[in-house]
Amino acid sequence: MQYHRMAIEREAPEQLGYNRIKYNLSESSYTDQLLDTTNLNLHKLVLCYGDHLGNPQLRQLLATDYGVDANDVLITAGAASALFMVATALLTPKDTILVMTPNYATNIETPRTIGCKVVNLPVKIEDNFRLNIDLLRYFVEIHRPKLISLTTPHNPTGSMLSAGDLYVVAQLAEKYKCYVLVDETYRDLALITLPALAATLSNRIISVSSMSKTYGLPGIRIGWLVCKEKSVMEQLLAAKEQMFICNSVVDEEIALQVLQQKNNLLPNIIADVKTKLGIVTNWLKTQPLLDYVLPDGGVVCFPRINLSINTKYFYKQLFAKYGTYVGRGGWFDMPDNYFRIGYAWMPNNTDLQQGLNNISQVLEEMANDKG
Ligand SMILES: Cc1ncc(COP(=O)(O)O)c(C=O)c1O
Repeated sequence: MQYHRMAIEREAPEQLGYNRIKYNLSESSYTDQLLDTTNLNLHKLVLCYGDHLGNPQLRQLLATDYGVDANDVLITAGAASALFMVATALLTPKDTILVMTPNYATNIETPRTIGCKVVNLPVKIEDNFRLNIDLLRYFVEIHRPKLISLTTPHNPTGSMLSAGDLYVVAQLAEKYKCYVLVDETYRDLALITLPALAATLSNRIISVSSMSKTYGLPGIRIGWLVCKEKSVMEQLLAAKEQMFICNSVVDEEIALQVLQQKNNLLPNIIADVKTKLGIVTNWLKTQPLLDYVLPDGGVVCFPRINLSINTKYFYKQLFAKYGTYVGRGGWFDMPDNYFRIGYAWMPNNTDLQQGLNNISQVLEEMANDKG
């Protein structure tokens, strides 16, 4: 395979340097947590190779939450490696994948690197970024994909699939004998009714999730996938063993101990995310130069600039003059007049408001220059 670095990673804030960004609205996670804030006890941990499927207690905790067997859960190095394993295990250059677009870049780039046919399944701002189920049905019929790739809550738009949508998806997978990857990395950050984990609906569906986004723990690199089909799970385990054998037992233990405190931690995180979303909503309502859809979940939204401007200059000004960084549309295979705002990473709401005001300021300056 010939790998190419993706724009979202080349231009990632941690690559640019956190100390160079004053108002960081480019992140897609909740605030990064400190190791000592989560009441961890790691002193007696034996630094051995771990169980290849992943820490059994961690798998059991997740399995109980989702209503599956612990052996249906495979712990991975973040959701990113799970996505890579699923794509490489299921796709060959002869296959076709239908992928919700825009999307988190890896969900598009890895199939491209494999060399299979990548068919975009567009979700549009005009449709409130909802998946068009009739279009999905039609595309499955004419393209006969080996894999359908969906994301809910969606990155970069924050839209969610309903239980009804997922039911249709499961039926399509059974009827056309294809697989479905449902990237549920933002699952615990749903702000509307949360459907059952997609993988519980069919043996042909693989769900992926992670500690990174909701719990602000991208640095421990712990994610997981859930798959009830034994033969597929065997493939995925083989992929994991060839790449890294097992996870870091330290990372797994941190994830376990944090998830054991989920009932205490999650309500506070959700309350904070809602407050921050309220700030973004109030701001968006006063922006005549932006079209937008409010998110159903997650910590990002994806407005569109409805003015014809030089977008390179917009991002340059925003960063150079106002120290404000957002995710440009190109990170998600979209035009750069769309951009992603990540609103829950900066802990301080005054900074959030200032970052948003800086966006308005640059847009107004550019509109006045045109006028
Ligand atoms: C939809 C989606 N899937 C997967 C990932 C990767 O997350 P992780 O840090 O768990 O590897 C991201 C990160 O931005 C994401 O947005």
